[in-house]
Amino acid sequence: MAEEKILVTSALPYANGPIHLGHLSGAYLPADIFVRYQRLKGTDIIYVCGSDEHGVPITITADNEGITPQEVIDRFHNINKDAFTKFGMSFDIYSRTSIPTHHKNAKEFFKCFYDAGLFNVKKSHQFYDEKSMRFLPDRYVEGTCPKCGYEEARSDECEKCGSLYDPSELVNPVSKISGSTPELRETSHWYFPLGKYEERLKKYIDEMNSKIGWKDNVLQYCKGWFHDGLKDRAITRDLDWGVKVPLDGIDDKVLYVWFEAVLGYISATKELSEKRGEPDLWKKYWKDKDTRYIAFIGKDNVVFHTIIFPAILMAWNDANPDDQYLYPENVPANEFLNFEGKKFSKSRGWGIDAIDFLNQFPADPLRYTLAANLPESKDTDFYWKEFQGRNNNELADILGNFVNRTFIFANKHFESKVPETGELLDIDKDMLSYIESQPKKIGELIEKYKIKDAVLEMMNLARAGNKYFNDSEPWVSIKQDKLRTATTINICLQTIYTLAEIMSPVIPESSTKIFNMLAARPVKWNDCGNANLKVGTQLNTSEILFTKIEDEAIDAQINKLGVVDGVVVEDAEDFKQIEFDDFVKIKLRVAEVLEAEKIKKSKKLLKLQVKIKGETRQVIAGIAEAYKPEDLIGKKVVMVANLKPAKLMGNESQGMILAVEGENGLSVVEVDKSIKNGTEVR
Ligand code: MF3
Ligand code: ZN
Repeated sequence: MAEEKILVTSALPYANGPIHLGHLSGAYLPADIFVRYQRLKGTDIIYVCGSDEHGVPITITADNEGITPQEVIDRFHNINKDAFTKFGMSFDIYSRTSIPTHHKNAKEFFKCFYDAGLFNVKKSHQFYDEKSMRFLPDRYVEGTCPKCGYEEARSDECEKCGSLYDPSELVNPVSKISGSTPELRETSHWYFPLGKYEERLKKYIDEMNSKIGWKDNVLQYCKGWFHDGLKDRAITRDLDWGVKVPLDGIDDKVLYVWFEAVLGYISATKELSEKRGEPDLWKKYWKDKDTRYIAFIGKDNVVFHTIIFPAILMAWNDANPDDQYLYPENVPANEFLNFEGKKFSKSRGWGIDAIDFLNQFPADPLRYTLAANLPESKDTDFYWKEFQGRNNNELADILGNFVNRTFIFANKHFESKVPETGELLDIDKDMLSYIESQPKKIGELIEKYKIKDAVLEMMNLARAGNKYFNDSEPWVSIKQDKLRTATTINICLQTIYTLAEIMSPVIPESSTKIFNMLAARPVKWNDCGNANLKVGTQLNTSEILFTKIEDEAIDAQINKLGVVDGVVVEDAEDFKQIEFDDFVKIKLRVAEVLEAEKIKKSKKLLKLQVKIKGETRQVIAGIAEAYKPEDLIGKKVVMVANLKPAKLMGNESQGMILAVEGENGLSVVEVDKSIKNGTEVR
């Protein structure tokens, strides 16, 4: 049987901005852990990534800043490449889609499909901005909805009333780029007939899934797409930035960015082959039947990797019977990582860029924190406090401490050498068999993309090491039975050796330090659970593995959140949006306070009798610290009139009074005394 090979790709990030922690935990860190693990296992594997450097947003950024698209991509390609390096990503190549190899590759695919007569050509009307001399993508045109009059409608659809219309129907169209009135021009594009592949795509996904089991979230997304039916997709655009459409006489059109970006994986592998001086190397990973291809991505990229990319490859394979590409065996997409309970947002100052983070904190604690909390099956959050806790209480207090106390003993009592073992007691045998079992268990989890669980098991070995150390009480045995202590310390060192290896996919830098301290090197993953350190090995000086992070450092970061250029940002987008129908369910009414009294034993609550229209209601309000009861009488306040009654300290409350928290405490929302009780507030 030919040797198994693995090709791993991570989504090519746009070179239009800096990557943030959400990107790292979605598509990069899990892949890097998987790849590092496979390399230790001895698998023939390559890991390919690069910048996605085309698409409209890049040209907009360039216009806004008065620079060229090339300057934009150069800047962010370098920033992101640097961030990935600092983060410890172990790509075999970090390529980019602006290289000639990629343009050539993407054009070949287009030409192949063109020559095979695969495309449908369709004419349409598209807005053209004469001032900036370009066709405008839908999202850069705004106007008034022809159906409901909403003034911020898009060129072909209205967000407000949901209607779809022809761009020619849009009233008062405005170019978001130049502010001028765009005109409609006829244009034509090449469409890829995605529907033609629908049945085969379904079959492909079913087969892969039954063979190895795809993630539920990914299958759900695919189902949604199939449910809606696959339609023709335009794969060209009227734009001058991108891969030029390779047809004579066409020089103002480029390939749609998603059509060529996925092909960037192949181009990047070709570039790797060129760099290694083995021009055919890429074929081994893209075309050999015994290669497994795994594509790591975030959830927003699923359709492109499970449907569009495979369809493109199918089309190629149909046209070239002797030259067959492989399809992804798995697409283990992650959900999103949010930041302290909200979405990452640059404009609202929410979140942190990878490069900024890594300029202030080392990579390993970040890798460990993200890995322990990957959004594998649902969205998760990054919290600064959790980062501090994982660093201080787990990496430093469990792993670091275990390594440190073991080395102190070895240095002090055994001349910094690996001591011999004496008779093994049950406690020793149990520990040795636990060490032996962990690598296999962890490896199996990683192979199933259950990286979060794998990380827990890694730290469990360090936990077990600490417990073994405590239970063995070497500080007691050293006074009576040095061989017993030697046995304990030997086994602790063996544990540390195994820890260095099994944790190295997650915390590579710290693992290297531990290997150096042990004067040892990694072995094959499957062997690393067996006592491998030779008795008598001279240990190197130990170093501190993890420094504790102080509260001040964390608080400083938290205080920066939601602040842009020193100004606190209003964050309407933070709220989960509700329908108008939901809003009108809340009945707000003007009410007059008739009576108010304190509630015994409560500092905060007042019991009020208020009048709305014909009825009097009792309301318990948490405003006792802000108002004397008598000051409230006669005030006209706003109350939620249809709240289900509730009991507060034994008193029924039949509504709620609105109040605002100001600098000097709470104040109730009041309306003018002339307004009648029961008036609706809208
Ligand atoms: N640039 C895209 C993003 O950041 C990902 C492209 S993945 C590729 O969402 F497959 F197209 F390369
Ligand atoms: Zn509308």
